[in-house]
Amino acid sequence: MSATADIHAYTKAEDVFAACAEFLVERLAAAVRDRGVARIALAGGGTPRRLYQLLAHRYRDALDWQAVEFYFGDERNVPLDHPDSNFRMARLSLFEPLGIQPHRTFPMISDQQRDPERDADAYEVALRRWTAGKVPRFDVTLLGLGSDGHFASLFPDTPALAERERLVAVNPVAKLHGHRLTLTFPVFEAARDVVFLVLGNDKRPSLARIRDGLAELPAERLAAKRPTHWFVDRAAARAP
Ligand code: 6PG
Repeated sequence: MSATADIHAYTKAEDVFAACAEFLVERLAAAVRDRGVARIALAGGGTPRRLYQLLAHRYRDALDWQAVEFYFGDERNVPLDHPDSNFRMARLSLFEPLGIQPHRTFPMISDQQRDPERDADAYEVALRRWTAGKVPRFDVTLLGLGSDGHFASLFPDTPALAERERLVAVNPVAKLHGHRLTLTFPVFEAARDVVFLVLGNDKRPSLARIRDGLAELPAERLAAKRPTHWFVDRAAARAP
């Protein structure tokens, strides 16, 4: 692993979530203090739900949450009110409990009925709105890790891995028999802080590969290219 990976491992899941929450709040508060706004790209999947609940309940007074803009690293090809929607998960576990105004949240609107390419273009415009056309620098991108080494919806052997121009891609994922919308490598490479939240035995082999400095699978390539922060439990961190 050529770039630095700052790994924080805890035995209890609650300690992992608390440590990650502390880190996020510190980074977001600093962004609000220094730039008047903080921008975070949220992770989807199952793992971050408990983290979002913790932020909404234990850290509701830790910063001006109305000065934070919430984006997404990726989204499933389902309506926003579908149980599998990353936006829905964040709305129920974070936005609504914190009373975040809807115009501070930026769903990666994707729906079977809608044209995904048009959604990706629209999200790209939304991102380039605050960067005068350049690659946006999120204050934090929060990510999970797939047991196949994917992050966001950058899965192994998928076309979006090679995307260097677009910030948002429609990524066909054969094993999902469909596509996902995902931010691309340049966005994650440009972020001020990249934070991985990884828990559970099933993530042990992919985390071990990253620790061993391999740089083949998507998350390995990101960790090899730039500094990353890892909040993991011992189940995931133990040697396979
Ligand atoms: C998604 C995610 C994806 C996720 C990993 C880990 O939409 O599924 O963005 O990249 O972070 O698949 O998922 P779990 O946290 O559910 O294990």
